[in-house]
Amino acid sequence: MTLSEIKGRDDLPRHIAIIMDGNGRWAKQRGENRIYGHRQGAGAVREVIEASAEIGIGYLTLYAFSTENWNRPDDEIDALMGLMVKSMNDETKTLVENNMKLSVIGDVGRLTEDVRLRLQDTVELTAGATGMHLIVALSYSSRWEMAEAAKAISRDVSRGLTDLSDIDEKLFSSYLGTSGIPDPELLIRTSGELRLSNFLLWQVAYTELYFTETLWPDFGRDDYYMAIADYLKRERRFGLTSEQLSDNK
Ligand code: FPP
Repeated sequence: MTLSEIKGRDDLPRHIAIIMDGNGRWAKQRGENRIYGHRQGAGAVREVIEASAEIGIGYLTLYAFSTENWNRPDDEIDALMGLMVKSMNDETKTLVENNMKLSVIGDVGRLTEDVRLRLQDTVELTAGATGMHLIVALSYSSRWEMAEAAKAISRDVSRGLTDLSDIDEKLFSSYLGTSGIPDPELLIRTSGELRLSNFLLWQVAYTELYFTETLWPDFGRDDYYMAIADYLKRERRFGLTSEQLSDNK
């Protein structure tokens, strides 16, 4: 499928989430170090953001750094944080000019102050944007996010701000980092790994999953269009039968 065939369709995913995997293996295949792979990966990030805006995707969530990634070697963590700061320095103007909003989800308290402030700056500068919403999951894990939500709900119940009987799926969702953001319709993972790795576990309950062997630095527009085309072919039943879906049309 080409861009012109995808663009303007009314059944496109509103929200796409991506697990960007394979930077290390991509670098190793070329006899380079992992950091080189992450740098190339940042190029693929730019490409996918541009393509998403062109197609008219409303929300794009990128898994940039997991809670578990804190266990990687210090030089790799430093390089990834440096890349994040560099991307913000280079791209904030473009985000503003293109009316894009940036949010960060995750345990940002673990980031160093310079990284946190740099991100906060871009988040504040783009807060009023009404175009595409880019969500970067940084120092993120779904179990952490859900445990934080449980703590915050308990606190509000004990203070009398929320009643135990008010707790339902909608209320729980509103305590997550993704509050106000619709659940993704499509989740893409690159590099051939077939798992979710603690990413948006609550939010992907009905999400269509797409796995590709392509390593993240090689993931370009054609791969992205292919993933979206695959999504467009699927029948989303949400627990109903095909017949029920046809009757409701
Ligand atoms: C996974 O590959 C990738 C990451 C842990 C980092 C992703 C970060 C970027 C692409 C940098 C820029 C991001 C933004 C949002 C500007 P891996 O290292 O796990 O690869 P491997 O599985 O082959 O070892």
